[in-house]
Amino acid sequence: MIKPKVVITRRWPKAVEAALVEDFDVTFNKRDRALTADELKDAVHFADAVLPTVTDRIDARVLDDANPRTKILANYGVGYSHIDIDSARTHGITVTNTPDVLSECTADLTLTLMLMAARRASEGEREVKTGAWSGWRPTHLLGSKVSGKTLGIIGFGRIGQEVAKRAHHGFGMRVLAFNRSPIAQDVLIKTGAESVASIDELLQQADFVSLHCPGGAANKHLIDCRRLGLMRESAFLINTARGEVVDERALVQALTFETIGGAGLDVFNGEPDVLPELRACENAVLLPHLGSATLETREAMGFRVVQNLKDFFEGRAPRDLVA
Ligand code: 8YV
Repeated sequence: MIKPKVVITRRWPKAVEAALVEDFDVTFNKRDRALTADELKDAVHFADAVLPTVTDRIDARVLDDANPRTKILANYGVGYSHIDIDSARTHGITVTNTPDVLSECTADLTLTLMLMAARRASEGEREVKTGAWSGWRPTHLLGSKVSGKTLGIIGFGRIGQEVAKRAHHGFGMRVLAFNRSPIAQDVLIKTGAESVASIDELLQQADFVSLHCPGGAANKHLIDCRRLGLMRESAFLINTARGEVVDERALVQALTFETIGGAGLDVFNGEPDVLPELRACENAVLLPHLGSATLETREAMGFRVVQNLKDFFEGRAPRDLVA
């Protein structure tokens, strides 16, 4: 049997790359740099399947110009705002993603950012590593307590719920949740969360605001200047969702004029470029998109893609169908 041609756009953990070659005729990206638009067009033109990541912008232009042979874009990751879903539909291309397997690790990293921002961990580490630490004193790098505070979660899907469980059952936090569709009662009970009617209400009450909604046009600048203005002066904004959800220029203003307490960000508009003004903010903890970055999770994401591909090419409906 002829193996379907598959293009994998970045290096993946070894175990998954080895599993892929058993069933597919795979083209690897040995140099592991992001593909250009032209390289993506070529991939979509000649391969039966392309396996993109967040660094591959597959927009209408790429698909229209490519005259695609590709029948499936099996995305490595849960978020897929880098893929133009309407255009994929127009070209009859199936799109899948990798939910579930990264929820715990992304939630762990959310708590990492909350703790780092509130307890000024990056500032402290900078002092120690640069030799600037002048010794212990009662007023040195005083942060804010996390335990027992109020956490507001915007987007109460799988990742948001994992964050709530950790915050409520681990740190005794009061958890407020906002979701576009109503949250089932059993989910609220399991996660120890209370549902709130609006984002604005959540912002006014929370000591920490954590974003777990999808990116893309629908949520672009969901957190804008007005909404940042509703946050408490001591509150922290945490973003492990997508950069475009936050108006970064407005955030820089809020951080600079200290109208909020600080921020913990794992995602940015135009990654890997980060606004210099944002990088200059001492009260912002910035990580390079590490949400799902554990070996266990990155392997599990890969195996989930392999399963989606096998289902598709063996004539079954893939489990993680997006379009
Ligand atoms: C992934 C993520 O590593 O899955 C997502 O949506 O943001 C990350 O954890 C990345 O998107 C891979 O494409």
